[in-house]
Amino acid sequence: MITSILRISPRNPKLGWASHYNRFWFGGCPLKSNWMNALSTTFPHAERFFIETVKHYQDQITDPVLAEQVKGFIGQEAAHRVEHDRFNQLLKAQGYPVEEMEARVEKLFNWVRKNPDPEVKLALTCALEHFTTILCTEVLKTPTFHEPMQGDYKRLWCWHCLEEIEHKTVAYDVYQSINGSYKNRFVEIIHASVGLWLILISTMMAYQRHDGRLFNLRDWGVLITWGFIWPGLLTRLIPNYFRYYKKNYHPSHMHDQGLIDKWRERLGFNNRQD
Ligand SMILES: [Fe+2]
Ligand SMILES: [Fe+2]
Repeated sequence: MITSILRISPRNPKLGWASHYNRFWFGGCPLKSNWMNALSTTFPHAERFFIETVKHYQDQITDPVLAEQVKGFIGQEAAHRVEHDRFNQLLKAQGYPVEEMEARVEKLFNWVRKNPDPEVKLALTCALEHFTTILCTEVLKTPTFHEPMQGDYKRLWCWHCLEEIEHKTVAYDVYQSINGSYKNRFVEIIHASVGLWLILISTMMAYQRHDGRLFNLRDWGVLITWGFIWPGLLTRLIPNYFRYYKKNYHPSHMHDQGLIDKWRERLGFNNRQD
């Protein structure tokens, strides 16, 4: 029985997307912006896959709290898909090879869909949700990972991150409700780790190439320092990343209700039922 009473419901982030934004919207930094642009490129197809894999088991869920949370999860991920699609259209308008990169993501998920075992596909969703949870927690927790973003870009990412943290337990609880195995969970976190980084790095490089900055050593120096040394976004993820390999892991072991309350307030979603 799921005991959490956290309400999960989709919201409209009310993004206007004025046209005056800087191309390098993440603090004027090309590679940080292109790193986030690459992440956004994966979302429309990834969110669709997450929804499909959870929906597959929707009729088998007997716990009423989890059944409600699944509806909220599907609604939130569908809204993320729509907003990242709009974001990706803006990238396309700036000439980035978005269609080509999205097609590669789609091809990868279509290949995964060929696996006849729905448990394996749900295990992949759980693994990718773990990545989004740990990344989003760090982005919201540490001002330097969100403050430099411009206007609606900041609102988009902070809204998405908030909802990822809100629904972090849902796919995993569905997986536990079907007695999903540790073996599949272990194998799929490995697949997710390799596949996600290959896609992200190659997409980021394609966008950097479009900007004529692929071999700009200063850009790479800034990104590597920011990601691995100081403030070290990726390095900070490592301890939470490895929690997933514990047999008794559960996403609720990471306590972040305070962070959720703070960001609900900050984004104007004060009412818990917003
Ligand atoms: Fe999402
Ligand atoms: Fe999610």
